[in-house]
Amino acid sequence: MNAVAHIRQFAWPDYDGVIEVWKSAGRDVLPRAELAAKLVRDPQLFLVAERDATLAGVVLGTFDGRRGWILRLAVDPAHRRRGIASRLVRELETRFATLGCPRVNLLVMPDNVEALRFWQALGYLPLPDVLCSKPISASIAPSCGCGQRL
Ligand SMILES: CC(C)(COP(=O)(O)OP(=O)(O)OC[C@H]1O[C@@H](n2cnc3c(N)ncnc32)[C@H](O)[C@@H]1OP(=O)(O)O)[C@@H](O)C(=O)NCCC(=O)NCCS
Repeated sequence: MNAVAHIRQFAWPDYDGVIEVWKSAGRDVLPRAELAAKLVRDPQLFLVAERDATLAGVVLGTFDGRRGWILRLAVDPAHRRRGIASRLVRELETRFATLGCPRVNLLVMPDNVEALRFWQALGYLPLPDVLCSKPISASIAPSCGCGQRL
């Protein structure tokens, strides 16, 4: 089979498949607890792509009421250059628009040339801003999983 990917909202039975996609693409895995906390806010912004009954791609959107963020986009290497990431992002953009979100941001490592080409193909342009980050102290937020940068 060589089916067109089906884009839909994440459901918990997808979790193991999502982990496999993130690992296959060299991305950090979001722990269950962190994901559960995110899904309380905007579950419709966590999307998966299924192709040939296999989980082939994933993207995580968040909306804070002012800006949208796109995180953890990944497509399994066996399913790349078939438009799966483009379709995931376009569906996410539609959902951001439905929420009234006027602008979406994302972060790309400067040496991730393939991803930069992908994002520019979709109209996402680099800005000169420098990312600053600080983990919130364990004494303030004991359950904060701050090992991962983003
Ligand atoms: C970046 C990534 C998500 C793209 O997934 P994909 O499903 O293959 O992307 P698409 O098929 O939708 O590509 C759309 C367009 O983006 C550009 N593009 C995508 N991958 C590219 C690559 N490796 N090199 C150059 N351009 C690329 C092309 O213009 C492509 O159109 P074309 O195939 O008609 O030439 C995938 O390569 C991936 O998972 N990479 C590892 C994880 C990662 O870096 N994620 C993004 C972090 S910000």
